[in-house]
Amino acid sequence: MTAPESFTPNDPVYLRDPFPVLQRWRELGPVVVDPGSGRVFLLSFDAVETGLSQIVRGHAQGPDRHKHFPGNPFAADGPGHTLARRVISPALSNRSVQRHRQRIEQIVDDALADKTDGSELHVVEEIGFVLPYKLTCDLLGIPEVDDPDLLRSWTWKSLDLIDAFLSPEQLQEDLAASALLKDHIEEVAEWKRRHPGDDLFSAVIVAADAGEVMAPEQVVPFIHTFYLAGMHTTVNQLALSFHALLTNRSQWETLVAQPQLLDNAVEEVLRFEPTAHYFRRSTEEEIEIAGVTIPKGKEVLCWIASANRDAAQWGDTANSLDITRADARHHIAFGKGPHTCIGSWLARLELNVVLGEVARRFPNSELPEQRLEWASNVIRGPEELVVRLRS
Ligand code: HEM
Repeated sequence: MTAPESFTPNDPVYLRDPFPVLQRWRELGPVVVDPGSGRVFLLSFDAVETGLSQIVRGHAQGPDRHKHFPGNPFAADGPGHTLARRVISPALSNRSVQRHRQRIEQIVDDALADKTDGSELHVVEEIGFVLPYKLTCDLLGIPEVDDPDLLRSWTWKSLDLIDAFLSPEQLQEDLAASALLKDHIEEVAEWKRRHPGDDLFSAVIVAADAGEVMAPEQVVPFIHTFYLAGMHTTVNQLALSFHALLTNRSQWETLVAQPQLLDNAVEEVLRFEPTAHYFRRSTEEEIEIAGVTIPKGKEVLCWIASANRDAAQWGDTANSLDITRADARHHIAFGKGPHTCIGSWLARLELNVVLGEVARRFPNSELPEQRLEWASNVIRGPEELVVRLRS
């Protein structure tokens, strides 16, 4: 069906709390057309799972958005994507990422070293970006840059290109940042060729030079996605997780009292407040989803944030945070199907260590009065979140 009015995802009210709007749209049906953009929205849990796994990426983002990174294997479908992905996926399995635990603990320890009862923790600034950034450098075997803030701005704007509702001005701004990021990654790739090691960047270069799963010119686009996908998602998910747990105080207290619930608490915050709200696909052939026929050539938005709150999947408590929820891990915050997040186990580990350490050291932490700024309709998260640490 077509919705009675257009979707307005950049409205500040929506950005502050998108879930009631998504619920209203989901109540219209599992598959709804946005009259403003003509896009098809998948909204129920089942429809989103099917969309993410069965509809190809196609050219949903438009070739202009990829212009600085042509030939990216992650933007492709079929063997060109799956074989390239396999070059790095074993190093990111649940078992493999455990070797980074100590390093993660060290980074978190450094960030909390000077904190005492009553200190403020600026989650985004002090842990959020530093942690995934340092890990990305470790995994790729590259030195940290002198000015991470510049890189942070380029990667954020380049990631912003997945926003389906960008204004023409934002698009130009994001593309300009993306061009600078391209120059930077090209320089890093040249450096890496001269300094090979036991790291993922070198593995990708070796695979590309062998020419079997990807071509040498695909190295930079491949690494570009790896850079973007792991950083700002983790930053935002950390901030959202603290926000969810501390505004649902009883859940924070349950976690403090029962630290054995930590793994499940991480799954539940991913379900309740997933940072990645939707991903785009485009139909290369007609497909039937939830009894609705979607014609060929349609742009489809798969609404993860809606699926993760669908009462048909989660029951009457879909809109409540419950860290004891038995099936929390069935959320689709990391997607589904061939493009499922390759870094999900690393992200889980990072969330686990940060939330676990803060809950253990500062069990009475709280959120002070603050005004949160929500910038993105696609990779959701506050620009900063301050936590008052209390022992
Ligand atoms: C909490 C943090 C994270 C969240 C919520 C998240 C979420 C997602 C989602 C939903 C997708 C699927 C996109 C689609 O279907 O179109 C995805 C893909 C991807 N993620 Fe993550 N991600 C996170 C962290 C990471 C990390 C830490 C890394 C790298 C170490 C990473 C690397 C990737 C890559 C490379 C892809 C593309 C996979 C492909 O197309 O085959 N992500 N992520």
